[in-house]
Amino acid sequence: MLRLDGLSRTYPTGTQALAHLTLDVGAGEIVAIVGGSGCGKSTLLRLVAGLDRPSGGRIELDGEAITAPHPGVGIVFQEPRLLAWLTVAQNIGFGIAHLPRAEREARIATALERIGLAGHGGRWPRELSGGQAQRVALARALVARPRVLLLDEPFSALDAFTRADLQEHLMALWEDSRPTLLLVTHDIDEALALADRIVVMRPHPGRIGTMLSVPTARPRPQPRPTGTPEAEALKRQILNVLRPARQQMALPAAAE
Ligand SMILES: Nc1ncnc2c1ncn2[C@@H]1O[C@H](COP(=O)(O)OP(=O)(O)OP(=O)(O)O)[C@@H](O)[C@H]1O
Ligand SMILES: [Mg+2]
Repeated sequence: MLRLDGLSRTYPTGTQALAHLTLDVGAGEIVAIVGGSGCGKSTLLRLVAGLDRPSGGRIELDGEAITAPHPGVGIVFQEPRLLAWLTVAQNIGFGIAHLPRAEREARIATALERIGLAGHGGRWPRELSGGQAQRVALARALVARPRVLLLDEPFSALDAFTRADLQEHLMALWEDSRPTLLLVTHDIDEALALADRIVVMRPHPGRIGTMLSVPTARPRPQPRPTGTPEAEALKRQILNVLRPARQQMALPAAAE
């Protein structure tokens, strides 16, 4: 279980990016994090990845404190960040070089199949479309079988069709080892399609505004259909929490 306990981060500039954020996430749970720009979502993921240190509070994975990058925690960013001098298969196998060769190759082959690139392991990153490259980035993060996978707006640079396709690939890959997912997204439909729970953050300082469960049954590991009455009702709830932040930001302009 991933436990975030009273997590704060104030940058040297004085910006209080996160204040006393507490959240427990169960093994295999999929939690989406939504919120306006600057409310601390990426800060939160960087702390959980051990890429930055909190100013206060604690992060624990199965009882062990996380204070530096940890093999049990993987991260995927908005851009694929593939290594240009390695093939697709070598990129996917980058984090599992320590495994015996047969095991490594089996995991790479399964991952290539899951992302629809079976037989394309010898291609170079420059030969891939944006969607294909991001699929490789997902596979690279998941072949290491992390207990927690952090995703920071992983599909937001892609068109709507490719995004829906990638959501399915993510679920297929997730099925292999069912890690805990923390998914930052600005797409409420994406959060509703994938998450078990949705954390809505508020800014200044970054904190949890509200938390919603997404109870609608779905045949896991597939994304839920969007546009259902249940999904629309939840979407309205989320927008209601996000709206006050937008209105506050609009106030100075309106007063001019
Ligand atoms: N390295 C840094 N130094 C100083 N301030 C920072 C740093 N990184 C982020 N901030 C500030 O902290 C706040 C939270 O930033 P963060 O990147 O976590 O937001 P976010 O929710 O991911 O936003 P977005 O949706 O735009 O990606 C913002 O006010 C940002 O300007
Ligand atoms: Mg961000």
